[in-house]
Amino acid sequence: MSLQRMLKLLYALVLCVSANEDFDWTKNERGSFYYGTFPTGFSWGAGGSAYQTEGAWDKDGKGMSIWDVFAHKKGKIFLNDTADHSCEGYYKFKDDITLMKDMKFNHYRFSISWSRIFPNGIKADHINEKGIKYYDDLINMLLDNNITPIVTLYHWDLPQVLQEKYGGWQNASMVNYFNDFANLCFERFGDRVKYWITFNNPWSSAVEGYETGEHAPGLKLRGTGAYKAAHHIIKAHAKVWHTYDTQWRSKQKGLVGISLLADWGEPVDITNQRDIEAAERYVQFYMGWFATPIFNGDYPQVMKDYIGRKSAQQGLGTSRLPVFSSQEKSYIKGTCDFLGIGHFTTRYITQKNYPSGRGNSYFTDRDLVELVDPRWPDPGSEWLYSVPWGFRRLLNFVKTQYGNPMIYVTENGVSEKVQRCTDLCDEWRMQYFKDYINEMLKALKDGVNVKGYTAWSLLDKFEWDEGFSERFGLFYVDFLNKNKPRYPKASVQYYKRIISSNGFPNQREVESWRRKATETCSSSNQLLAADPLTSHMEMVTEIVVPTVCTLCILLAAVFLMFLLRRRF
Ligand code: NOJ
Repeated sequence: MSLQRMLKLLYALVLCVSANEDFDWTKNERGSFYYGTFPTGFSWGAGGSAYQTEGAWDKDGKGMSIWDVFAHKKGKIFLNDTADHSCEGYYKFKDDITLMKDMKFNHYRFSISWSRIFPNGIKADHINEKGIKYYDDLINMLLDNNITPIVTLYHWDLPQVLQEKYGGWQNASMVNYFNDFANLCFERFGDRVKYWITFNNPWSSAVEGYETGEHAPGLKLRGTGAYKAAHHIIKAHAKVWHTYDTQWRSKQKGLVGISLLADWGEPVDITNQRDIEAAERYVQFYMGWFATPIFNGDYPQVMKDYIGRKSAQQGLGTSRLPVFSSQEKSYIKGTCDFLGIGHFTTRYITQKNYPSGRGNSYFTDRDLVELVDPRWPDPGSEWLYSVPWGFRRLLNFVKTQYGNPMIYVTENGVSEKVQRCTDLCDEWRMQYFKDYINEMLKALKDGVNVKGYTAWSLLDKFEWDEGFSERFGLFYVDFLNKNKPRYPKASVQYYKRIISSNGFPNQREVESWRRKATETCSSSNQLLAADPLTSHMEMVTEIVVPTVCTLCILLAAVFLMFLLRRRF
């Protein structure tokens, strides 16, 4: 055997051995349950976001965001719902913190509404102190209750003025405007907030905001809009990270990350190389689009290849995927102290060629098709199938691709359709949490560096283009009642037990949780059923009582006049 062959063989052997240390995709026992607990200090919590929960859309000096304007346009949102009032979290945050305290949360994830702080998006125009006070109070009360705030700076609600004047994320000037906003948040809240998330799920902002137009601002710039928006978002993220790093980190000692959403993509046929590559492309076009520049300095090679080739076939001189200069690459690389992961579901992926032509889009650029297994449970949102094993795979993918970063799961949960809303005994949600959290525990055993888990979401809330028709909450919110009362679903009890046991101690105990949780939910169901009566009583006190009183006073006055007349 030649020396060269021997070296090659040795190299192959080393590759095999190191691959064995990694998670073995083919041997994932999909059905098995793992009893065990999380490391001490593992952080449990839940989340929400400003536009989805706060309400008070035009109160105390808040400016309009692109979502305020978009939701007010007819035909954009299911049943033309808006989040003008939503859960009224702006007024009810104290009640909500009591709920969190009772569940023994370690953290709560929320977002700051940019236009509540800078009504026109721009610092030089006006700073709204009332908006700052709201977040001050929220943060202080969380800390008083030993709940760590995890704060997102951008959960999709760009100030409308920036959209109108500059075209929003299509324009590079957003980088500096966003940096000004973030800088003010660091200045005013950073003494108390130690976990910052620059962007929540920028994939949606880019693709649904600027490519399909299903989300605000509703633009349909197929094949270019999403790439351009993402390019500016990535630069804005990096700039904000550097601002924190150079101006605030030494004083405030916090961390700055980004929260990326990704479904897992599994090859339809794991023995077919084309399917394997298509599935990898699916994840790279989803999470890798943002994560690869941030961890490794540039877009995934496969995106550059595919979009570049398709652009050339269209006869374009340059790729529709923008290019980072080498300076930008080194500026962006390494700008992540922790990675937030939002994960809900999985798809099977197979290869499919889309011939290049006029119809190019983000979706056709990927050359693949998404499939689902009809046996997967799909209790709520149309797109959300419960496939717990995909979560472990995604977490392991992150570990190997990006050098095992510190991870916080920033969103994970399941919805139910509005038709089922009166049933607070949410069996399927308990099952979903149990199985997904268990897969996360397995990932931890695989060596993935997960530090915390955020159930999505604390409350039922405005679900973007689906309005209020999809409920993700641990707590049911009665949106028809002016007071927006919250009722615990059975999953509250279930999640509470996972938290207090810091995982799944043993089979006997875990099996009793579901029964106990369902016992309590029937009493909550009764409370909810009595709710129309309460609302009716409110109507009586608010409308009937004042009307009757006014009538009595009028009658008394007439009677008095009559008496007086007769006397004189
Ligand atoms: C991701 C978004 O960040 C969140 O706001 C939304 O509620 C969930 N997906 C569920 O659709």
